[in-house]
Amino acid sequence: MKAVIFDLDGVITDTAKYHFQAWKTLASAIGIQIDETFNEQLKGISRMDSLERILKFGGRTTDFSNEEKNRLAECKNEDYRKLIASMTPDDVLPGIQKFLSELKEAGIKIGLASASKNGPFILDALKITHFFDTIVDPAKLKKGKPDPEIFATATAQLNLQPYNCAGIEDAVAGIQSINEAGLFSVGVGVPDEVHADWRINSTEALTLSGLKKHFKKKI
Ligand code: BG6
Ligand code: MG
Repeated sequence: MKAVIFDLDGVITDTAKYHFQAWKTLASAIGIQIDETFNEQLKGISRMDSLERILKFGGRTTDFSNEEKNRLAECKNEDYRKLIASMTPDDVLPGIQKFLSELKEAGIKIGLASASKNGPFILDALKITHFFDTIVDPAKLKKGKPDPEIFATATAQLNLQPYNCAGIEDAVAGIQSINEAGLFSVGVGVPDEVHADWRINSTEALTLSGLKKHFKKKI
């Protein structure tokens, strides 16, 4: 195994709750009520695709021009940025810091494949940017998760073959992206109906020895 590619929201830090809060406020302002069950569908999905899903859910797909939709998405992001403004290294999920150190010491490359345009800001706030050998810029992608493009791009940026890499995700769309790109998939708390090569309940279970053991088994 030569690299581990991380999702951000829900794997490195628990920003999913802030995304939900900001979307709930925005949706409510245009008369759409969303709950946590619906929110599961938004995990791993880009900002604009998330807005489209919310509009569809509320039966308002054709009610806004592109310009208005851009403004709505921007409005959600401003709210979200306020919620993440006070993030600190204490917000790194359990086990992640140690796991990143283990990977670094073992000479295994580390990548970020997050749909979030706020990714670099969050890594800086968590003070873990220095661990990353490559970060995919989601603005340059043609398709979002579940399309494999983002994980395929991460391995290509590292000049590695997907089968030599593992990807870690908490979202259904993200696991599908990893599987389709041909990486070894690690699912953190993902539902049973989606296949993950190694399924764990919490980031605390992430260790290099554990990952290597499961990775070898697949080969
Ligand atoms: C993903 C989140 O990581 O990033 C989604 O799981 C979010 O909920 C997406 O919509 C895009 O994030 P941002 O920060 O660019 O709006
Ligand atoms: Mg996620």
